Amino acid sequence: MELNTEIKVSTDPIFNKISKVVPEIEWKIHAPLIYKINKLKKEKNAVILAHNYQTPEIYHGIADFAADSLALAIEASKTKADIIIMCGVHFMAETAKLMSPQKKVLLPDMSAGCSLSSSITGKDVRLLKKKYPGVPVVSYINTSAEVKAETDVCCTSANAVKVVESLGAKKVIFLPDKYLAKYVTKNTDVEIISWKGTCVVHEQFTEKEINEIKEQNPGIIVIAHPECPPDVINAADFAGSTSGMSEYVKKNQPKKVMMVTECSMSDNVQVENPKVQFIKPCNLCPYMKKITLPKILDCLENESNEIIIPGNLIKKAKLSVEKMTLIGRWSSNVIDILKQAILEDLRPSGDVTSKHIKNNKLIKAKIISNENCIIGGLSLAKKVFKFSDKKIIFKLKTKDGRKINKGKVVAIIYGKSKAILKSERVALNFLSLVSGVATITNKFVKKINNKSCKILCTRKTTPNLRTIQKYGVKLGGGHNHRFNLSDEILIKDNHIAIDGNINQLVKRTIKNKKGKKITVEVDNLNQLKKIIGLKFDRILFDNMNLKNLKKGVKLSSKLYETEASGGVTLKNIKKISSTGVKRISIGTITHSAPAINFKLEI
Ligand code: 13P
Ligand code: SF4
Repeated sequence: MELNTEIKVSTDPIFNKISKVVPEIEWKIHAPLIYKINKLKKEKNAVILAHNYQTPEIYHGIADFAADSLALAIEASKTKADIIIMCGVHFMAETAKLMSPQKKVLLPDMSAGCSLSSSITGKDVRLLKKKYPGVPVVSYINTSAEVKAETDVCCTSANAVKVVESLGAKKVIFLPDKYLAKYVTKNTDVEIISWKGTCVVHEQFTEKEINEIKEQNPGIIVIAHPECPPDVINAADFAGSTSGMSEYVKKNQPKKVMMVTECSMSDNVQVENPKVQFIKPCNLCPYMKKITLPKILDCLENESNEIIIPGNLIKKAKLSVEKMTLIGRWSSNVIDILKQAILEDLRPSGDVTSKHIKNNKLIKAKIISNENCIIGGLSLAKKVFKFSDKKIIFKLKTKDGRKINKGKVVAIIYGKSKAILKSERVALNFLSLVSGVATITNKFVKKINNKSCKILCTRKTTPNLRTIQKYGVKLGGGHNHRFNLSDEILIKDNHIAIDGNINQLVKRTIKNKKGKKITVEVDNLNQLKKIIGLKFDRILFDNMNLKNLKKGVKLSSKLYETEASGGVTLKNIKKISSTGVKRISIGTITHSAPAINFKLEI
């Protein structure tokens, strides 16, 4: 295709943006391809996701969304497009498919692999799990779907430490990158069992090279990817995921910078930060560079190179990626909650009593449970103390989710007395709250004693404390319903009353569900008959008597997942579960969970 006026008008703004990093002679070849791809992707309702290591003509020319591997996975789960073209490597395309199984996911070159991903197989993970029974597995997102299926939680370089710590375990199997494992080990107290994988790009950097660059460029800021060897990271001023690195440059605008990572990344970030001078490494990822504009066009035109993963593998592998994205939501939300609670106890003048103590000596304190319970919230309590003084040592004597007896010492704390006193109440309040939810949930779970029926919480939570209460539900053996209104579609009595026609409302919703699950709530069998057979996911029987509930379950259990709610108590739950219903949702376990009493003894 010639570079005619129409193409020039449409692509010149892109060239003006990237002319510093793409020579004009190359642009003449790129422009017609960019024009064609951008036109075709609109016609086909396709979205192009690109990793930060893609070349500038892809990153700035055709990508609808360009980011690190974590953000690409999240974007894949949200997209409304019918086709996802992954400009990245095979594990990224597989992850997109896991997050959006109903979409067509295409990879422009199926041989775009990754040395980390190919360093380990599902069989290797199964052997490791045998060797270390009960130790949870965290796998870097740079792994195959087969490995992800054997994994408890995935992580990326952006959240590896957070994910490892979220498990509350003493030991974690961390796969497959030995350098990233070393980076995590340095930043956590959790014992890390690692694997031998390396990235062919990042393992080439050496401390010597970094120090030479620093000598030759006084004042240069060096930022490194955590896949680099530890001495390289030590020599750097900052370490972070590809997006973390790019945000660092954007925020700090250093005069001169070297990004110790794949080379195209510097070109892409340079375009967005014209005032910053870049010293570019020349390490290219041979796999990322397999993705080119002609291959993207071919793949889009022919809808070729589709990622296919068997359904059962998708189910297992997806879970580990979903858990990772939930941890992202959990950690940022929880940190906000903790900070607010600490401020609530200290504003405006701080602890005006403890400051009169003459001696701020080092003390040992014990946290003891005053009741039998399912314990929860230990990591929150630890964070509260650490916010007060980083040097406080918080030793766990049990684990979240364990059944403990009255009088049990759950943690021992060593630190300066004033810092401990300042945090005591807030830390104990979190333990009381989470343990309370976990304990009452567990009572309901034990009462039905039925593995094929799940106990779930609802949105009836204390304002702003939902994340923490939902965590408590899981510790007690229960399950979480949708987190909020944006997660899933739940058509309830008020929606039906306002709309006026349950059948039409459900049909309309199915047509526009955009990948969301649909639950329909009915409060009588007549309503059920009006919608039975329509293609939605779950039927929720609200406040129905046992006789009608049983009939409803019988009529619908082959078509839908069944759920009961309304007026559930410890007295009637056994009878409700014996109707065959698969889920029982209960507001009481969050809004009315009695707090468990803990004390701090010095
Ligand atoms: P990020 O998760 O930081 O984008 O890294 C992915 C990758 O493959 C780096 O080599
Ligand atoms: Fe894999 Fe390294 Fe290439 Fe990233 S840069 S895709 S980790 S080989």
